Amino acid sequence: MCGIVGYAGHRSALDVVVEGLRRLEYRGYDSAGVAVVADGALASVKRAGKLVNLEKALEEQPLPTSGTGLGHTRWATHGSPTDRNAHPHLDESGQVAVIHNGIIENFARLRAELEEAGVRFTSETDTEVVAHLLAAEVAAGSELVEAMRAVCRRLDGAFTLLAVHADAPERVVAARRNSPLVVGLGEGENFLASDVSAFIAHTREALEIGEGQVVEITPDDVTLTDFYGAVVEEKRYHVDWDASAAEKDGYDYFMLKEIAEQPKAVANTLLGRVGNDGLLSLDEMRLSDDELREVDKVVVVACGTAYHAGMVAKYAIEHWTRLPCEVELASEFRYRDPVVDRQTLVIAISQSGETMDTLMALRYAREQGARVLAICNTNGATIPRESDAVLYTHAGPEVAVASTKAFLTQMIACFLVGLYLGQVRGTKWGDEIRSVVRDLSDLPAKVDVVLETMEPVRELARNLASATSVLFLGRHVGYPVALEGALKLKELAYMHAEGFAAGELKHGPIALVEENVPIIVVVPSPKGRSVLHDKIVSNIQEVRARGARTIVVAEEGDEDVVPYADHLIRVPECPVLLQPVVSTVPLQVFACEMASARGFDVDQPRNLAKSVTVE
Ligand code: AGP
Repeated sequence: MCGIVGYAGHRSALDVVVEGLRRLEYRGYDSAGVAVVADGALASVKRAGKLVNLEKALEEQPLPTSGTGLGHTRWATHGSPTDRNAHPHLDESGQVAVIHNGIIENFARLRAELEEAGVRFTSETDTEVVAHLLAAEVAAGSELVEAMRAVCRRLDGAFTLLAVHADAPERVVAARRNSPLVVGLGEGENFLASDVSAFIAHTREALEIGEGQVVEITPDDVTLTDFYGAVVEEKRYHVDWDASAAEKDGYDYFMLKEIAEQPKAVANTLLGRVGNDGLLSLDEMRLSDDELREVDKVVVVACGTAYHAGMVAKYAIEHWTRLPCEVELASEFRYRDPVVDRQTLVIAISQSGETMDTLMALRYAREQGARVLAICNTNGATIPRESDAVLYTHAGPEVAVASTKAFLTQMIACFLVGLYLGQVRGTKWGDEIRSVVRDLSDLPAKVDVVLETMEPVRELARNLASATSVLFLGRHVGYPVALEGALKLKELAYMHAEGFAAGELKHGPIALVEENVPIIVVVPSPKGRSVLHDKIVSNIQEVRARGARTIVVAEEGDEDVVPYADHLIRVPECPVLLQPVVSTVPLQVFACEMASARGFDVDQPRNLAKSVTVE
């Protein structure tokens, strides 16, 4: 999950690369560095910390003008975030510069071999071995691109690599295995990047780089081969999302903008997926009705917030289709020897489409014969490309590390898939489907209503900024919402926060309840199973009796909770299964305001990255 940029062309490589890194900084920001090729030599600067530190260093130590260069923002895997461990890494002669995203799993053996041969290392990183190996190949007579192919054949693990050589001006060479890389195609210039946001200001024409491929760019050419030199077919595509969508548009943080965009994101994810007959039309999924009728089990694999969306999906899919639905943490899935076969529909949910845990889970599922449907927010990403089918969420680019609009649209997409399964398999009648479709189409306006009433929530967050812990409770579809609210608070406010199934409280966690501990309770709709509603009202009384400060998220008109709520947050009435789309929003706002009140970086929380492309 590092940011990677390469350039060969008529502009200042440094300007293009630094601007690209600024757009990619959300992918990792422990350190940053650049290198350019000029006058038969390499010039490089790198600094620990955020990109701004590198920019200051470049002002103090300007690099020579060049049209060939590369740059990197790092999320540390091997070696602490220091100047020395920042990328690019150079070989001993300073002739080769390399940047890397991923993990080279056999780097220790390679490093030992190199040290045995007398090579002196200057960093603790896995990446540095590549610089020395490339230099040795070039010194033995290979062109840089052939050297890259030879080295890639020796590497185990996941990597996107970019390299330049002092004696090869106007050339940048790159390779990828299990890590993102895309080419931007310009006039008299070409770009390489972890994702298109790095170069979309210059070109919207892009070229996919597939697994196990090496690419060489010059200002006028792009050459694509596999690791053995065989030329491979090029897959070009046009990037259609709006560059300004990746800007803050006047908001203090991307996260605030993306929270505010949720009504539109939900509406856009529904757009074009309902036929004139009011039934669902999802032929874009590329799974035939017969294939869907063969399904006898659904397994959702995802991480983090996407996993919570899968938990919500479970309730809807089982209710609408009567199919068993398992929800698995992607990082655990393939290690538990799951029962998966041709009749299993695996749904891989991922905003970035590059999460390695989820990618490896879907690969395992496909090896077991399962059909895989991706739910993804990034067109052309690896996970949808490696799935049998995809249903894209249309949330627009999500830049803030803490996921918000992607979460709501992932739930919408899951509802569409579950409803469509019911429609195709006949477990839902047409009138029932039309009714749910109408309820879904009401959601953007309901999210708008919530957004308009959030000032008390922001004030509450500011008042609780010195809290040391917040507990979250929920039942039924409110339970994943409680988990999501806790995750937001952890990752943004660096505060202990934990979500529980409210029914579990009495089995241990209630021991955590003490005077004034804030407890946020997500109350299910009273229109659902009243027993569920009554039980959670009892849970609120249980914690309040022990001194908790109760913050209750409940539907308009739910009066039963009023006597037990120290703070009441109202959300519009919703059908039981759809309530998470509105009840999550106050928890997002609460966490965002808490982080801001505590003075933390809302968009780039410490230790995190937007896309986790290592296992
Ligand atoms: C959520 O706020 C986090 N950024 C993180 O849990 C994220 O949801 C998870 O890493 C999965 O990312 P993906 O949706 O891109 O696969």
